[in-house]
Amino acid sequence: MWDFFETVRHRHSVRSYQSDLPVEKEKLNAIIETACSAPSAGDLQAYKIVVVSNPEKRQALSAAAHEQGFISEAPTCLIFCAEPERSAEKYGDRGRELYAIQDTTIAAAYAQLAIVAAGMASTWVGYFDESRVKDIIKLEDGLCPIAILALGYPAELPEPTTRRRLDEIVTQLD
Ligand SMILES: Cc1cc2nc3c(=O)[nH]c(=O)nc-3n(C[C@H](O)[C@H](O)[C@H](O)COP(=O)(O)O)c2cc1C
Repeated sequence: MWDFFETVRHRHSVRSYQSDLPVEKEKLNAIIETACSAPSAGDLQAYKIVVVSNPEKRQALSAAAHEQGFISEAPTCLIFCAEPERSAEKYGDRGRELYAIQDTTIAAAYAQLAIVAAGMASTWVGYFDESRVKDIIKLEDGLCPIAILALGYPAELPEPTTRRRLDEIVTQLD
């Protein structure tokens, strides 16, 4: 078992998958439970998660994401969808425009780490045609797809990515 920091270090975006190795049900449940354990404004969890394993639907998602082919190669996609009105009921515009999106993205980030802890990999896909994705997954009105996570067992070891220097990012106030 990796400790938390190793898990974080081992998370890399993977864009090539072993299509013939499905994601086990128990692992998928553990990943989704971890996502749903993330903090959310007012504990409202203003999101829904759509699981897509059907090959035709994954192919259609890949096309809706400007032909990013690894989406159909990955055996499973999780689509994290914000539910703005759920947050707006309590928090008005701030809930609708900010908290619902934050809730959704934090949950997706937790899922990415759980995927690594479960021995798999994922890539966060944000570059897609929103209305086409809604159509493919028959998303109920009022929900908005924010992120697609393509996930599965990796077929490649990705190149390490770089990060900005901490002193460019962090301001230490006296
Ligand atoms: C909001 C967001 C949108 C992204 N959209 C895409 C995408 O459409 N396609 C893709 O291949 N990667 C996408 N990525 C993944 C980033 O390219 C990747 O996280 C970044 O290059 C750092 O690499 P790493 O994840 O391996 O650390 C996205 C990541 C985020 C957070």
